[in-house]
Amino acid sequence: MRSVHINLIRRAVVVVALLVPFTSAIAKNTYYQQFGQKAGIKAVVNRFVGYVLSDRRISHYFATTDIPSLKSALTDQFCQEEGGPCTYTGPSMSSVHRGLGVNEAAFNALVSDLIKGMDRQHVPLDAQNNLLSKLAPMESQIVTR
Ligand code: HEM
Repeated sequence: MRSVHINLIRRAVVVVALLVPFTSAIAKNTYYQQFGQKAGIKAVVNRFVGYVLSDRRISHYFATTDIPSLKSALTDQFCQEEGGPCTYTGPSMSSVHRGLGVNEAAFNALVSDLIKGMDRQHVPLDAQNNLLSKLAPMESQIVTR
């Protein structure tokens, strides 16, 4: 009887061990799907950058920025962070933002514009939170004063 139990437990452990990589791959994929794949991410980035450029708190930072290339870099970055089939190939966050003099208030303002963009695009909250949780640790590389 005891050995039957042990066998069942062993089997259960094997099944769980086999399923974990699949379920985490599905969860990753789901965030990308929840964003509406590449087209949905592009739409979020368009809205987000639109809000940033008309946000008096931070628009001046972007006065000389090539906006189409910024949008394309952000789209790749967000797509990658949400588990989509994209790779961000631009420079590191610290080298891009070094010398821009970004402070914490500016960082928070930009994040609030991103949230507004995701809300307007009806991105589900767990996908929003997943992206924000990936971007939050970048703060220390972006905020320099
Ligand atoms: C989590 C927050 C942020 C992320 C993920 C992020 C990401 C990026 C990315 C991917 C680029 C394009 C890099 C390239 O391909 O050259 C970029 C550029 C830029 N970012 Fe950020 N950024 C963030 C926060 C901020 C903040 C708070 C500011 C200022 C308020 C800012 C100002 C800029 C500017 C001005 C550029 C363009 C630099 C240039 O024209 O060369 N960023 N950012």
